[in-house]
Amino acid sequence: MGQDRIPKDREACEMLKLSMLKKWRQLERPDSFDASDEYHSQELSMAIYQREENAAICAHYYDQSCPAAEKIILETVKNATLYDPKVPARSSPQNVLPRLLHQDSTQSNQAEKDGPPNISVRSFYVIEDAKRKLEKACPRTVSCADVIAIAARDVVTLSGGPYWSVLKGRKDGTISRATETRNLPAPTFNVSQLIQSFAARGLSVKDIVTLSGGHTLGFSHCSSFEARLQNFSKVHDIDPSMNYAFAQTLKKKCPRSSNRGKNAGTVLDSTSSVFDNVYFKQILSGKGVFGSDQVLLSDSRTKWIVETYAQDQKAFFREFAASMVKLGNFGVKETGQVRLNTRFVN
Ligand code: HEM
Repeated sequence: MGQDRIPKDREACEMLKLSMLKKWRQLERPDSFDASDEYHSQELSMAIYQREENAAICAHYYDQSCPAAEKIILETVKNATLYDPKVPARSSPQNVLPRLLHQDSTQSNQAEKDGPPNISVRSFYVIEDAKRKLEKACPRTVSCADVIAIAARDVVTLSGGPYWSVLKGRKDGTISRATETRNLPAPTFNVSQLIQSFAARGLSVKDIVTLSGGHTLGFSHCSSFEARLQNFSKVHDIDPSMNYAFAQTLKKKCPRSSNRGKNAGTVLDSTSSVFDNVYFKQILSGKGVFGSDQVLLSDSRTKWIVETYAQDQKAFFREFAASMVKLGNFGVKETGQVRLNTRFVN
């Protein structure tokens, strides 16, 4: 194969980039730009940006090598949702976070999806199912990292949230260790710790608040928040930032008895299968489940953003889509492999 030969899975990207660049050169720059003009279309700027960065990811990565990829993933997520109503919350955003943060993750006896902060990821079978179907339709083509990023978007959209175009072409890591998930932010983090943790992934203060809105979906086990309910500090039995009645409700759900079920816990907001801004409204009334949710209201760097989203769901949706694109594109690997099985390195 000649040095310049572009692999089939990248052809669509390369062709798009070239035609965009050609178009770009032909266009006269107008005197004033506004965000809606053609010059600033997401596609065009991404195409050029990615070219300069020498990265391969683009929205059209599988157009030639696996045109049905997104449809197969969407159908799988949709079907799973029909049979298991918990799938929307459980098959995704929380799932995406560790994976997009740990592009380089694992083969070991304990794969990374079993690492501690991922215990909620009980619907990973949906990702595995989609991957199996993709291996039949277009073998060795679509990476697990791309399947996860697309499925996360589909879960959000199917739950009533925003849609965004996922850039594709990530490769899967060739090592995988359960310990890597330990670098994830903890539910006990304060704002400074969250800032540090997200900054390491190229994410801003606004991204922290916006992406924490992912807790509009889903469930948490008692172990992730019960330290707030009893013996919280020397002076407070219950975390004083938590609404008192809410704390009593959570205490009932998480009794300190040995016969507590291993699935004991609570939903993360009162409309936990709908993607909406109720999570932010709950924070305003002291009903954030994790310390890391509630602290967003006590720090001036994040408070105004919580207040904005609680009032303006459209703003939350718009920014959530933008932050997910940012999260999904950080530290993308061009080298690596397309895993045949999502759990294991080939
Ligand atoms: C700000 C830092 C974050 C912390 C400290 C955090 C922490 C947690 C914890 C402790 C759980 C519950 C685990 C359990 O006990 O079962 C959880 C669940 C969840 N998180 Fe986060 N998370 C963070 C950011 C995110 C982001 C960025 C998203 C998505 C964009 C997200 C989406 C979810 C979802 C959907 C669930 C529920 C999963 C389920 O129902 O199985 N989280 N998170």
